[in-house]
Amino acid sequence: MESQRQILEGETASDNISQDEVLPNKSRVTVVGSGNWGSVAAKLIAFNALKLSSFHDEVRMWVFEETLPSGEKLSDVINQTNENVKYLPGIKLGKNVVADPDLEHAVRDANMLVFVTPHQFMEGICKRLVGKIREDAEAISLIKGMEVKMEGPCMISTLISKQLEIDCCVLMGANIANEIAVEKFSEATVGYRQNREVAEKWVRLFSTPSFMVTAVQDVEGVELCGTLKNVVAIAAGFVDGLEMGNNTKAAIMRIGLREMKAFSKLLFSSVKDSTFFESCGVADLITTCLGGRNRKCAEAFARNGGKRSFDELEAEMLQGQKLQGVSTAKEVYEVLSHRGWLELFPLFTTVHEICIGRHPPSSIVEYSEHKPK
Ligand SMILES: NC(=O)c1ccc[n+]([C@@H]2O[C@H](COP(=O)([O-])OP(=O)(O)OC[C@H]3O[C@@H](n4cnc5c(N)ncnc54)[C@H](O)[C@@H]3O)[C@@H](O)[C@H]2O)c1
Repeated sequence: MESQRQILEGETASDNISQDEVLPNKSRVTVVGSGNWGSVAAKLIAFNALKLSSFHDEVRMWVFEETLPSGEKLSDVINQTNENVKYLPGIKLGKNVVADPDLEHAVRDANMLVFVTPHQFMEGICKRLVGKIREDAEAISLIKGMEVKMEGPCMISTLISKQLEIDCCVLMGANIANEIAVEKFSEATVGYRQNREVAEKWVRLFSTPSFMVTAVQDVEGVELCGTLKNVVAIAAGFVDGLEMGNNTKAAIMRIGLREMKAFSKLLFSSVKDSTFFESCGVADLITTCLGGRNRKCAEAFARNGGKRSFDELEAEMLQGQKLQGVSTAKEVYEVLSHRGWLELFPLFTTVHEICIGRHPPSSIVEYSEHKPK
């Protein structure tokens, strides 16, 4: 209580070194990543870390260091202003968030690791963390995406679990970060493998009065929903860019949801139908196809007749934020072609073929109308 009071009165968590001595069993949380969603995750966690006695007040946030146009380091500015001025401007993170540009130092004392970077950086991050984390560490991944290896697709939670030899849950949902940052009501789903108690600890760490989190025992289902909906959002963006209207967009979303479910269940027979009705499923699909960055860039791509590349549009429209749907479409395509499933998934296949310029954006409706066999 004493330290909470100090923090609320303005003392920063990094000044407060007495909690471990007083309560050695408190969980310590580190957020690995500090983009748009990473910063919002840190804000939610910081709120609960102060409120709940089972968590240490201080929340570390690893920052991939950048020099701002002012010449200052991003991590210094976050610690001075309590704001991520580049990825979440205008929002106070909570004084108990400490930005740390040193990855190993940031994770050293934590037993709860929250991974939230664009998925393409995770393999490198995991390699750097081998042998550097606490033995009793637990992880959760908020990352949407997958790695495709010679032996097949590898979900990011599996990559984390295997490389770091720790349990890894996932949290996915209809969560456009900027809306959660201003405390608009939203829901999310935690997916766990076996340990319900650990899942409930993650639920407590993230839940706030305006952010309702529930747990389901289906880690792959939850993670695949979060990953695959970005491919459908690219298709929805093409429809918007071509001004095809709401009926077409709804049709694309329905076909996309059907492919999401079929693909997930073909990869993992354990995936449950009910997961697609959680926040991570249909709700995330809807919000992403209405408002997300994948939809926005795909709309611009279609408006330009496919003549401007996604790399160019990402750099111009997202100011350092990363697009996930295009790379996920490629990864999904690799899995489909490797397994001979391309014809079963006309929408997923067509999205990738449009992204690489093999077909015009308008072909999104010519191909995806075929039913998977
Ligand atoms: N933004 C959202 O609304 C939202 C919502 C739900 C889930 N997600 C997921 O969260 C994950 C993280 O997205 P975000 O929105 O926090 O990030 P972002 O796209 O806003 O920002 C990109 C981040 O990547 C970092 N970065 C750049 N180069 C790097 C490198 N070489 N190594 C490591 N980091 C590097 C940047 O510093 C920045 O923190 C993604 O998987 C995304 O799909 C995002």
